[in-house]
Amino acid sequence: MDHAEYKALMERMRGLVEEELARIENTEAASIYPELRRAMFYSLEAGGKRLRPCLMLAVCEMLGGEVSRALPFACALEMIHTYSLIHDDLPCMDDDDMRRGRPSNHKVFGEAMAVLAGDGLLSFAFETLLKAVAAHPDEGALKAANEIACRAGASGMVTGQAADIEFEGSAVQTEQMLMFIHRHKTADMLAAAVLCGAYIAGADENTVSALREYSEKMGLLFQITDDILDMTGDPALVGKTLGKDKESGKLTYAVLYGLEGAKARAEQAAEEAKAAICGVKNAERLAAAVDEMLTRSN
Ligand code: IPE
Ligand code: IPE
Ligand code: MG
Ligand code: MG
Ligand code: MG
Repeated sequence: MDHAEYKALMERMRGLVEEELARIENTEAASIYPELRRAMFYSLEAGGKRLRPCLMLAVCEMLGGEVSRALPFACALEMIHTYSLIHDDLPCMDDDDMRRGRPSNHKVFGEAMAVLAGDGLLSFAFETLLKAVAAHPDEGALKAANEIACRAGASGMVTGQAADIEFEGSAVQTEQMLMFIHRHKTADMLAAAVLCGAYIAGADENTVSALREYSEKMGLLFQITDDILDMTGDPALVGKTLGKDKESGKLTYAVLYGLEGAKARAEQAAEEAKAAICGVKNAERLAAAVDEMLTRSN
């Protein structure tokens, strides 16, 4: 699959996600306290790449699953991702003023409402996905819900964020700790996306295990390129505050090994991600996603 075909595929998936998020906002979110709702949807609507939900739908379709069944899980994951960004930008965390091409949530709504917008998106995500589980309570749906809960939660993404904060400015910075941070703060959410798509499609154990390996390598690759973009990206394209990792003493590959070292590790993770799916049928789109990740500018 070439670049243009991959872009078209992801655009098609993005259309489904945007339409469903708009539907949810106009129906199920109607009883949320107005200012809280505005704060939640300010960040959710701002978009971003929608990588996680689109990847979930693309995997589900690739394995012959019903994309409409995966859609509520995809939207729920994007809500959780968005909450993590709102909290990540808070002054007590990374203290960033720009996100998704707009002032960060707390810059517009204040810190208290930004914390609540994050809380709201996290709990609304579980409301959304549990409704989907109740509608089709099969094994795939239960596994998908469990995967999201574990990978987004206290021993998943939140663990990564805690380690990221704790190791900021630390005198001891090892590759082992860096891998731990990247694996949890970023790769867990990408793994949740890929695996939910596979579970909803009813994939067999071999496929699931190959995709687990793939998604964990992709997650690592994604965070390494995020760290590289923090040093070299164009703010207009990336849409968030750049250059902060080094300044705040974040533990990143680019900081630890320099840009060239980080690029070499990104290439290695890309190769490993592709190798993981060599036995999976119809996985050209997932190989294309790896290539895209290596050369991304936002
Ligand atoms: C940013 O994620 C946070 C990281 C895990 C690096 P994205 O780069 O996917 O952000 P959006 O969704 O496009 O805004
Ligand atoms: C944060 O990583 C990832 C999560 C929000 C879980 P970063 O702090 O590097 O993300 P950006 O660069 O602010 O998007
Ligand atoms: Mg952070
Ligand atoms: Mg940050
Ligand atoms: Mg970053």
